[in-house]
Amino acid sequence: MKYDYDITLAFKKEWQKIILDWYSFNKRDLPWRKKTHQNFYKIWISEIMLQQTTVATVIPFYKRFLKKWPSLKLFMNATLEEILYEWQGLGYYQRAKNLFKAKEFLKTNKLIVNSKNLLNIPGIGEYTSSSISAILKDESCAVIDGNIERILLRVFDLNRSEKNFKKKIKILAQKLTPLKNNKDYFQSLMDLANIICKNRLPQCILCPINKFCKSNGKANFKPKNRIKRSTKAGVIFLVRFNNKFLAGKSKKKILQGLYEFPTSEYVEYQEIKEIKEIYKNQVKKWKKKNKISENFSIISTFEHNFSHFQLKVLMVEILLNKKRKLEDFLWFSMSDFEKKPISKLMSKAQKNIL
Ligand code: ADE
Repeated sequence: MKYDYDITLAFKKEWQKIILDWYSFNKRDLPWRKKTHQNFYKIWISEIMLQQTTVATVIPFYKRFLKKWPSLKLFMNATLEEILYEWQGLGYYQRAKNLFKAKEFLKTNKLIVNSKNLLNIPGIGEYTSSSISAILKDESCAVIDGNIERILLRVFDLNRSEKNFKKKIKILAQKLTPLKNNKDYFQSLMDLANIICKNRLPQCILCPINKFCKSNGKANFKPKNRIKRSTKAGVIFLVRFNNKFLAGKSKKKILQGLYEFPTSEYVEYQEIKEIKEIYKNQVKKWKKKNKISENFSIISTFEHNFSHFQLKVLMVEILLNKKRKLEDFLWFSMSDFEKKPISKLMSKAQKNIL
C-alpha cells in the first residue's frame, strides 16, 4: 500500500536544514554522545538502557555500567548475575538478560553493524538496529521511536487510531530521512521531541518547525495508559537464625535471576477490609508449607507499584530456634546479600532490616 505524502525535494531540504540548525545550538550533552563513546559497545548499551526509560534515569546507570565494563572485550567475561546486579533498579530485567545472551551470541557470530544484521542479536529490534546503525555507520534508515512518531503525527496531523497509522509514519519517516548525517538528524528529532514537542505541553511557539506543522497548537497528546491496576496483598518473610537470614533466586517470570526474601503468594483483593484475613491466611499457609512453627512478628507494611498491579506488603520476622534448610533458599549474611542483584521491591524490604 502506498501513501503519497507530497514531500517535495525543497520541503525535505528545508525541513532537514531547519532541524539540524536547531540541533547545532540545542543539542543535549549526553554521555553516549561523547566522541570517545562512538563504538558499538557504548552505543548499544545506551540504546538498550534508553528503551522505555528516560534519559535522566539512564545516565547514572550508564556511567556505572561503563565503569564496571569499559569495553566489549571486558564485558564478554561478565556473568548474568553481575549484569543483573548493575541493572537492579532500572527495571525491565529482560533487557539485562538479553545483553548477556547477546554477548554470548557475539562470541561465535561476527558483529556486522547495519540495520539488517543487528536484528539477529538478542534484544535488538527494529528501533535499536536502526538507531545504532545511524549513529555508527550514518546509515540512512528511518529511526522511529515514540518521540519521533509524536513529531510526525503532529506535523502531518495523523491520528493514532487511523488505519495503517504505523505504516504511514514509517513511510513519512523514511521519506524525510537524509542520505547523509542521519546520525545527527534523528538525534535532533529526539531532542526536539523532548525539549519542545513534548507529549503534554508542546512549546509550539519555540518550535523551529512550526511552520510545517498541520496541528500547530493543537495539544494532540497521548493519554497515559489509564488501565486500572489491580491491587494485591502479599507477605515478605524475614526468617532469621543468628546473624543470617533466608533468601533465594526468584522464580517469578519477570524477576528471574534476581534474589529475594521468601514471599507468600500475591493475592488480589477488592476491598481493603479483606487484607487482614489475606495476610493471616498467607502467613499460615507459608509456615505450614515450610514446616515452621515458630511465632512471627510484624516488622512493617509498605506498598510497591508494579506495572500491572499495586502490592500491599506485610513484612514479618520469624526467629528460628534451630537452623534448618528450606527448599529453594540459602542462608545469607547481610554483607553476602548486598552483593546479590535484587529487585526494587526487595530493596524496599531490605531497608526494614535492622
Ligand atoms: N533515546 C533513545 N536514544 C536516544 C539518543 N541517542 N539520544 C537521546 N535520547 C535517546
